[in-house]
Amino acid sequence: MIVTIDGPAGAGKSSIARDVAIDLGFAFLDTGAMYRAITFGAMQEGIDLADVESLVSYAANAELSWDDDRIDLNGNNVSEEIRTPAVTSNIRYVADPPEIRECLTMQQRRIANDRDIVTEGRDQGTEVFPDAQCKIFLTASPEERARRRHRQLQESGRETTFEEVLTAQNQRDLEDRLREVGRLRAAPDAIVIQTDGMLADAVKNAVLDAVRNCMVKS
Ligand code: DC
Repeated sequence: MIVTIDGPAGAGKSSIARDVAIDLGFAFLDTGAMYRAITFGAMQEGIDLADVESLVSYAANAELSWDDDRIDLNGNNVSEEIRTPAVTSNIRYVADPPEIRECLTMQQRRIANDRDIVTEGRDQGTEVFPDAQCKIFLTASPEERARRRHRQLQESGRETTFEEVLTAQNQRDLEDRLREVGRLRAAPDAIVIQTDGMLADAVKNAVLDAVRNCMVKS
């Protein structure tokens, strides 16, 4: 069974998807980490990010592997490095070109082949797994998402204001929504869960209920 969880940045998809996968005994795939790892690797290699041809060739030859929440790029653990603001602000160079998306889409389908999986991203229910048995779109208002992210950053000791977080998030939302291929949108058959005002446990339970409903139907 394939469960897709899509939604905008800061909707809490990764942690909810991971927890749900553990509860169900399913594998878990964080596809944002794949886009992040390619971005990080290309930056490290000094590749001109505006040079689509070089980027495509780098992405096609990069080797990604996972173990739970650890991601390795060409044999090196890059789980921490892929989360920096520098990587986040360059992701569009990797997420925009259809050729790179095609390459990562093929890998995502290969990973999901013949296993029960919860896969999380922007285009999982629309482009990558249009026939998934259960599609969820997890979202919250921009202010709520920015509030949560701001709190997380403060807790980890990073100096930033709510307005800065909201502005950066709005920019990323715009990029994610306007992307020509693989843009952020809910699949027509997705169950939309609006999480404003909900605690993480309540969101997780709502997602689990939705998945169990899909299981009964399929
Ligand atoms: O989920 P995240 O914030 O780690 O994702 C980082 C970026 O990767 C996101 O802004 C857009 C891109 N992405 C994508 O284009 N398609 C996906 N399936 C997942 C992420």
